[in-house]
Amino acid sequence: MAESIANGERRSSLHGHWSSRVAFILAVTGSAVGLGNIWKFPYMAGVNGGGAFVLIYLGCVLIVGLPIMMAEIMIGRRGRRNPVATMQILGEEEAGQTAWGLVGLMGVMAGFIILSFYSVIAGWTVAYTFKAAANEFAQQDAATLSAAFGAFVANPLITGAWHTLFMAVTVSLVALGVERGLEKAVRLMVPALLVLLGYAINSGSFGAGVEFLFRPDFSKVSGAMVLAAMGQAFFTLSVGMGAIMAYGAYLPQEASIAQTSIAVVLADTSIAILAGLVIFPIVFANGLDPAEGPGLIFQTLPLAFGQLPGGSVFGTLFFVLLAFAALTSAISLMEPAVAWMVESRRLSRPVSAVIVGIIIWLLGFLTVLSFSNLKDFKFLKGTLFDNFDYLTSNLMLPLGGLLITVFAGWVMCGNSSSDELDPAAGYVYRTWHFLTRYVAPVAVVLVFLNAIGVFEP
Ligand code: TRP
Repeated sequence: MAESIANGERRSSLHGHWSSRVAFILAVTGSAVGLGNIWKFPYMAGVNGGGAFVLIYLGCVLIVGLPIMMAEIMIGRRGRRNPVATMQILGEEEAGQTAWGLVGLMGVMAGFIILSFYSVIAGWTVAYTFKAAANEFAQQDAATLSAAFGAFVANPLITGAWHTLFMAVTVSLVALGVERGLEKAVRLMVPALLVLLGYAINSGSFGAGVEFLFRPDFSKVSGAMVLAAMGQAFFTLSVGMGAIMAYGAYLPQEASIAQTSIAVVLADTSIAILAGLVIFPIVFANGLDPAEGPGLIFQTLPLAFGQLPGGSVFGTLFFVLLAFAALTSAISLMEPAVAWMVESRRLSRPVSAVIVGIIIWLLGFLTVLSFSNLKDFKFLKGTLFDNFDYLTSNLMLPLGGLLITVFAGWVMCGNSSSDELDPAAGYVYRTWHFLTRYVAPVAVVLVFLNAIGVFEP
């Protein structure tokens, strides 16, 4: 193995660095906290039967997600390039292996697919901002609001237009390289959720919601469900595709990777749990189906906004915040592809952002159609979105994460990884190294094998 790069000869990023550790924490939290916490976590927990799913998801966050997040930041800061180039350069430098760039490339592709559907759902939240502002939810019952949601997603012109708007804003921000400040929306998310939590506690079904989320029913455990829980852990933490690696490339050298990662994981996980504590009491108080699917928050939260005093203003604010949280995540989904094009194709940032954005925007119409009600596209209904989500969250992200652990734990020399993570190689480094070499990769492989039925009698 090659010697680690001598101090003082470190690379630096071509895109500038974060101004401080706090700026980096905000950016990574901005990437992690988004629709994955507020929209996807509750509906996945609902579809998969609650408590047992939540427990497995939490386990995956801790023993798989956290070490991979640290590995991504470590690799990113070591390479200081886009994820494709970083993996390639480090692979050659550390072990003379040239193929590792492919892991970065798979991540770039995963980012395209994820953002294509992410933007459509983000478009729904923008639309719901206006519905809240127009006071459309006031004193409506669950059946009316569900029907309204059904009619809304059935119309591909409307959802397509909001998707277009959301992509246009995302591309503009990535093109300008201005993401600073947007992350603040995440900080307001917590107080907004706490207000809703108050409503949920008063809904009369808070106990039922808590029980659904936290009392595991192990008869619900199956190979597919464990895979979905692990996929949710990857998706919500933004790990496995190089988004965090791309951000790590801009991290100042002196910042602590372990502390940063722990802070981000704690924030992301608490926000998801808080969202669950808000949604399920509303579900049970109104006789809704927890297994409703991707429409769950759009059928539950409007009930709260329709009944709370000042609910129209508050609902507007809430959906605006959610759209901002989605925006900071969307930016991170584009960053690896854009940084890669800027560095390797010598295109400008705006041109790269527009090219990447147009491809993702077009791809997004497949998701628009798969929720729509157009007769000619009936065959797409409900299928494409599910497949895109499954392919990325359950297959590409865990596979990318697995390869990242192999790279960080086995291919890189211990000198290099400890140099970035913890130069004294103390217990933080040793715990991370153990999790990354053995626990996380074995867990991912076991979950994959379990999902294809290898352990079934
Ligand atoms: N984590 C974000 C969310 O929960 C989505 C996201 C942003 C993401 N970047 C990612 C998911 C990279 C997977 C990979 O909303």
